Amino acid sequence: MATEVGRALAGLDIEMVKKTYWEQNEFIHLDRWLPASIVDRIVAEVERVRPAVHRNYIPRHKKGGSVSYYTLVEQAPTILALYRAPAFIRFLTELTNQPLQPCPETDPHSCALYFYTEPGDHIGFHYDTSYYKGGRYTVLVGLIERSSSRLVCQLFKNDPSGRPIMERRLATYPGTLVAFNGDKLWHAITPLADNEERVSLTLEYVTDPSMTPFKRLFSNLKDSFAYFGLKTVFTGRAGGSRR
Ligand SMILES: [Fe+2]
Repeated sequence: MATEVGRALAGLDIEMVKKTYWEQNEFIHLDRWLPASIVDRIVAEVERVRPAVHRNYIPRHKKGGSVSYYTLVEQAPTILALYRAPAFIRFLTELTNQPLQPCPETDPHSCALYFYTEPGDHIGFHYDTSYYKGGRYTVLVGLIERSSSRLVCQLFKNDPSGRPIMERRLATYPGTLVAFNGDKLWHAITPLADNEERVSLTLEYVTDPSMTPFKRLFSNLKDSFAYFGLKTVFTGRAGGSRR
């Protein structure tokens, strides 16, 4: 993993990527960046964990399936190796100018898979708000893209300097990497149509992994109802059920 990630990073013009990231208010999109050798292994892990998908439906906000960190840590070594790869974390640290680190072991979102497999699966506009004391940064990796769904990103939403909103509508093809500051990017996934499928991986990094007890409770309740289920979140164990 280290060699492959190192090679992929060597192919980037880091200064140009950084410049674009900052010009876009802390957002970058690298189409089909991750090498097929890594993507293929990760997609094999997607198939392995598919029985553990936990489906959720929150009217008018989101519908879809997810597999939490607790399952991935047991069954998806390639995903974990990417999440923790020192060269990858160094790249993200340089990109964001923040001392990034993986989330604590107790966070089911640390790295997680999101499955859009049934008609209408989507997520409405939101920020990836940080409940940690520090900032939270999201890396999204496209894995399976056989859909008309799009990742819609509104850059500069609520920007204090008043820059006009710029909208991007992206297909996240296998290996495509999107990275952003969770408090700055207003984003959504548009609804899946019939006979379509979309699976993506998200990797979350933080600048300060501590959290106040109240925010921890709020975050756990949100994860229970919106993502992974009560049992998974409060016992910290792999689980989930198909619905
Ligand atoms: Fe998000």
